[in-house]
Amino acid sequence: MKTLISLKSTIFVIFGGTGDLNLRKLAPALYNLYADGYMPEKFAIIGTARKELDDQKYRDLILEGVNSFSRTGKAVKEKWSKFTDNVHYTPVDVSAPKTFEGLRDKIEAFKTEFGKDTQVIYYLAVAPDLFPLIAKCISDYKLAGDEDTCRIVIEKPFGRDLDTARELNQLLTSIFTEKQIYRIDHYLGKETVQNIMAFRFANSFLEPLWNRTYIDHIQISVTEQLGVGDRGGYYEGAGALRDMIQNHLLQLLCLIGMETPINFDADEIRNKKVDVLKAMRAFGPEDIRLSTVRGQYTKGWVEGKEVPGYRHETGVAPDSNTETFAAIKFFVDNWRWQGIPFYVRTGKRLFQTSSLITIQFKDVPHHIFPSAVTEHWQQNRLIISIQPEMSIRLQVQGKRPGLDMVLNPVDMVFDYKGTYTSDTPEAYETLLLDAMTGDQTQFMRADQVESAWELLMPVINAWESKKSISFPNYTADSWGPEDAEALIARDGFHWFTLPLNKD
Ligand code: BG6
Repeated sequence: MKTLISLKSTIFVIFGGTGDLNLRKLAPALYNLYADGYMPEKFAIIGTARKELDDQKYRDLILEGVNSFSRTGKAVKEKWSKFTDNVHYTPVDVSAPKTFEGLRDKIEAFKTEFGKDTQVIYYLAVAPDLFPLIAKCISDYKLAGDEDTCRIVIEKPFGRDLDTARELNQLLTSIFTEKQIYRIDHYLGKETVQNIMAFRFANSFLEPLWNRTYIDHIQISVTEQLGVGDRGGYYEGAGALRDMIQNHLLQLLCLIGMETPINFDADEIRNKKVDVLKAMRAFGPEDIRLSTVRGQYTKGWVEGKEVPGYRHETGVAPDSNTETFAAIKFFVDNWRWQGIPFYVRTGKRLFQTSSLITIQFKDVPHHIFPSAVTEHWQQNRLIISIQPEMSIRLQVQGKRPGLDMVLNPVDMVFDYKGTYTSDTPEAYETLLLDAMTGDQTQFMRADQVESAWELLMPVINAWESKKSISFPNYTADSWGPEDAEALIARDGFHWFTLPLNKD
């Protein structure tokens, strides 16, 4: 967590103030920042939504969110009461822009109270079709300010394809400068994801091995046990490619694949990430056939309860062609990674919730041990477990204790639980604090977003234009469609899972 710094007085305006994201993530994050002493001395949080609510009703509403979802449990009475003095509500209806007048007056009143150095952060925690409308209203009501006094945070999905992402970028950059725009990808705020940079670039032993000479393949696997739940309406228009791969998984891939930045400057780091995306091999029709797999779950049993198939979830078409699972083999065509496959998979209603990055190293060039003692032989692997277990494991061969020379794989483990006693901040705490301090490192720049879309567009177009005839093709609580196993098995590998399979 950041060292305590003095922050400018800040006004947070949260569009979607009564929505799920605010109640589950933003309000608990702001409260925890406050409780830990990371909020500015003077701040105001203005929730906005269509509903008519007074400040007290709004405070009660977000208290429910904090009590249910905060990592620190229920709010502490005294702290909450002080925090909540800074929480306000004003109704804003985007379809009735005049309601922005009330918001403008509130912002002006706080600016007068806090002083002219006050910064305003607009957080768009709303449905993506409202992003342009809100941005335009902010502009029309002269609320956009300048780089020092105003920022806008945009939730994902940023566009639904390359064209719409470009359009949104054009609109936003006609109102704000790039330095004011914070495109959020909450994965980048996760403690373990941030640690990838530290692990790679603060240790000297790794770099000589981090390339095609020593690594034989890389896997990035983000599997979820949950189904789409009540987000069917949103998910129907997204699917696993748009919801997870275009952003979270490609960002993880960039962190693993990037060259060493020359410093810790936000743009320098983001340049290096964009370089990876630009070096990724474009998909032709044959690559789509051989290197991509899509899936959709059917009903099954999860922890003793029967769960519906995707096509029976609320808000989902009975003949939906939306993928709830995707596996893709990528290549990064540059000196470091030429010929090394990056296998990426993600899906809902899978057997286990886990986010793992596995780097499998090449085998030793020559085996000196007799086969009788190497029954459990395994190539070295580095496994970065992002969640729920937070750890980094290096799997090496060792001698099993005893009179005979028998080898078996053992793990050298750095695990957060055993190493640190302090609580890990939530991704949103880190990112909200970054937005306040003006640090864009963990936010997506326009060209990052567009490059990721550009890479995936051929797959998205192919999957949309040709309905899958095999959907639904995996059972809830399984590891996904068989074709995903075949995708990787064809190259002689298999997907790694936790608990770690010691084959
Ligand atoms: C979101 C996706 O961005 O990330 C969800 O829209 C997904 O579908 C979620 O479940 C996963 O994030 P986390 O932090 O819960 O692992």
